[in-house]
This record gives sequence, structure tokens and C-alpha cells, in this order.
Amino acid sequence: MKTQVVIVGAGPAGLLLGQLLHRAGIDSLLLEQRSGDYVLGRIRAGVLEQGTVDVLEHAGVAARLRAEGLAHDGVEIGFRGFRHRIPLKELTGKQVTVYGQTEVTRDLMEARAATGAPTVYEAENVTLHDIGGSPRVTYRHRGENHEVACDFIAGCDGFHGVSRRSVPADTITTFERQYPFGWLGVLADFAPLWDELIYAASDRGFALASMRSQTRVRCYIQCPIEDTVDRWTEEEFWAEFGRRIGPDIAARLPRVPALEMSIAPLRSFVAEPLRFGKLFLAGDAAHIVPPTGAKGLNLAVSDVFYLYEALRGFFREKTTSGLDGYSARCLRRIWRAERFSWSMTRLLHSFPGDRFDERMQRAEIEYLLDSPSAQAALAENYVGLPL
Ligand code: APR
Ligand code: PHB
Repeated sequence: MKTQVVIVGAGPAGLLLGQLLHRAGIDSLLLEQRSGDYVLGRIRAGVLEQGTVDVLEHAGVAARLRAEGLAHDGVEIGFRGFRHRIPLKELTGKQVTVYGQTEVTRDLMEARAATGAPTVYEAENVTLHDIGGSPRVTYRHRGENHEVACDFIAGCDGFHGVSRRSVPADTITTFERQYPFGWLGVLADFAPLWDELIYAASDRGFALASMRSQTRVRCYIQCPIEDTVDRWTEEEFWAEFGRRIGPDIAARLPRVPALEMSIAPLRSFVAEPLRFGKLFLAGDAAHIVPPTGAKGLNLAVSDVFYLYEALRGFFREKTTSGLDGYSARCLRRIWRAERFSWSMTRLLHSFPGDRFDERMQRAEIEYLLDSPSAQAALAENYVGLPL
């Protein structure tokens, strides 16, 4: 078998790339090691930049997003018992859209199924061959071995995927920062008691009040990196969340069972470059941001959009300039999002230990809350830098 592009990984990055390529008349085969249900079961962030919404529109998958997405004009920062609103729209002219990554993925899966383009779920032992020459991908599915020749491979297989691991070690450089805490998150069905997202820097640690819809909330608290979900009951979660987010909300939190409860570690990671011969990395395969600021999905979407433009240029106009410039174009945006996610993480979480650092952090938050230009800089990054 032969196709133009083999896409490894059917998360949002791989699915979106497949959809954009399909609309440009470029064939792809999508290989995913898990089942579709497993992919939809992963709970991730849910804040879309306007540029992300525009790309989803361009891909023809924004109908439900347009109908159900919640437009937010601001976010709140909680600090020392008070909440301060950052008016995103007033400061930047732009909004963000609250719409879960699971829903984006579901819309993309349905679009792919409707096009009839081939997708193999539960593809085992996906292996990349000859990425510097005539690339091929082999895999095993339902007990049979398969081999596909292609012009290009898109590595959209996330942080733990096979693509980044398939390049010669001396051709890749990685940059990493681990944080000494994780986020314990709960998904629950009740109407949000907050109009906009609240990022709270309390003395007890960070908390985030988010939402998925008018009837579903997503809340997080900073927890020690060694914590496991079984060390927390739902009651303990809500009690701690309430103490960090503020007494007005704590007093009104309903007692409803959690739909999901999980812990995610926080990490910053970048691999350079994003191109190795005929292999192009995109999304979490190439970079991870800590979730503070919700840049992960938005960054995956901008990589994919650049890759789509580059591949379209190659197949339609026979120009390689997009492919040649892909890595540098992505990395410019990636490092800015890394910087923002890292600075939001540093600003809002408790890093116990160094008293000087604690005072610096407090001064930085106070400066932000007093300074319109510092707020404008936060807002500019939060709504998304231009694609
Ligand atoms: N073979 C085939 N598929 C694989 C392999 C493999 N060896 N390894 C991983 N995969 C699949 C995973 O099962 C997953 O479905 O690749 C997919 C990668 O999807 P994501 O991890 O969601 O990554 P991406 O599509 O880049 O989406 C980025 O996810 O983590 C968030 O913050 C991030 O929101 C951002 C988004
Ligand atoms: C979420 O709703 O899951 C969410 C929102 C904003 C973030 C991170 C996660 O910064």
C-alpha cells in the first residue's frame, strides 16, 4: 500500500491534520495505537484561542463549537482572599472559547469517519523506516502485519509516542523542566458558580475553577508530586478547593459525585528541531507545556496548521519552502507559549522553601494586579499570540 502522508497518532493533532489534508485533496492514513473510545476518555483542557477556532472553522469542523462553545471576555486571578478580573476582550479585542478538548476530538473523529479516509485504531507496534530516504511505516493490526510506503510521516503521537524516539539521538536536542507538584482534577456535573475561569494563588497552593459547559465544571488543585488519586476522597478535594478558591464559592458547592478524578504532573518540554528528513513532529510529540494558561491544544493546532500549509505547498505547487521552514516557524511560537505557561505556573503555584523567592512571587502578583500594562501582557498571551 502507498499513501501521501502517514499520520501517527489520532489525538487532536493527528485528526486535525488528516482533516485539513483531506480538504486539500491530499491522502493520508491515520494510525492510532488505542481505541477511539480510549482516546475520547482522556480529559484535557478546554480553552480555545481565537486562532484555534479559526483553524477549526477552516477545517470545516466548527459547527457544534459555534453552537455550544462559551465565549469568555475575561479571566479572574485569585490572590489573598480577593479576586481580580483581567478583562481580556477590553485589553486585546479578543475572546477565548471554552469548549472541551474531548469535544474537539469527537467532532474531528466524526468528520474523518464521514470523509471515509482510512483510520486504523488499535494499530500495534507502529514502526518508522528510512525517514531520511523513502519512508515506510509498518504496523500490526488484528494479527496481521502491514507496510505502507509514503512521501511523508507526521509524528502526532504525543509525548510517549514512537515518532520522536525514532530519530537518531545525535540529531535531536531536548529541553525540560519538571515542577515539584501536580494538578489533582475533578470533573462534575453542576452549573458553574463562576462566570469566568478563576486562577487562584492561595497560601495553601494553586486552584483553578474551570468549566466545560453551563452544566459541567472542571476544577483543579495543586498537589504534591508524590500524591496519588486514592489518597484523596471527593469530600477532601472539594473542601481543599473551597479553602483555596474562596468562602463565597465554598459555601455554595453542591455535593455531587465526580465523573472523573485524576492527577497530572506538570512539565515543560521542547524537542528541537521538529523535522528529520521526511518525518515532521507536531503537538505533544514535540513539546509539553504545564496546563497553567491552557496552551497545549492551541499549540498543537498551530503546529498542525503550519504543517498543513507546508504539505499543501509541496503537493500543489511543488515548493519545499514551507517544509524547509516548518521547524523554525513552529519553534518561534512554541518557545513563546513555553515562556508564558512557565511564567503563569511560577506566578501562581506554591513553591515552598525559599523565602526570598516567596516574596518575589508575591511582589510579582501584586505588580500584575496593579499594573494595566502587566495585565495587557498577560491578556495578549492568554488569548493567543498570532498564528
Ligand atoms: N502508535 C500509534 N499511536 C500512538 C503511539 C504509537 N506508538 N503512541 C501514542 N499514540 C497516540 C496516542 O494514543 C494518542 O491518541 O497518539 C495520540 C497522541 O494524542 P495526544 O497525546 O492527545 O497529543 P496531540 O494530538 O499532540 O494533542 C495535544 O493534548 O496533552 C494535550 O496539552 C495537550 O491539549 C494538547 C493536546
Ligand atoms: C480545563 O478546563 O481543564 C483547564 C482550563 C484552563 C487551564 C487548564 C485547564 O489553564
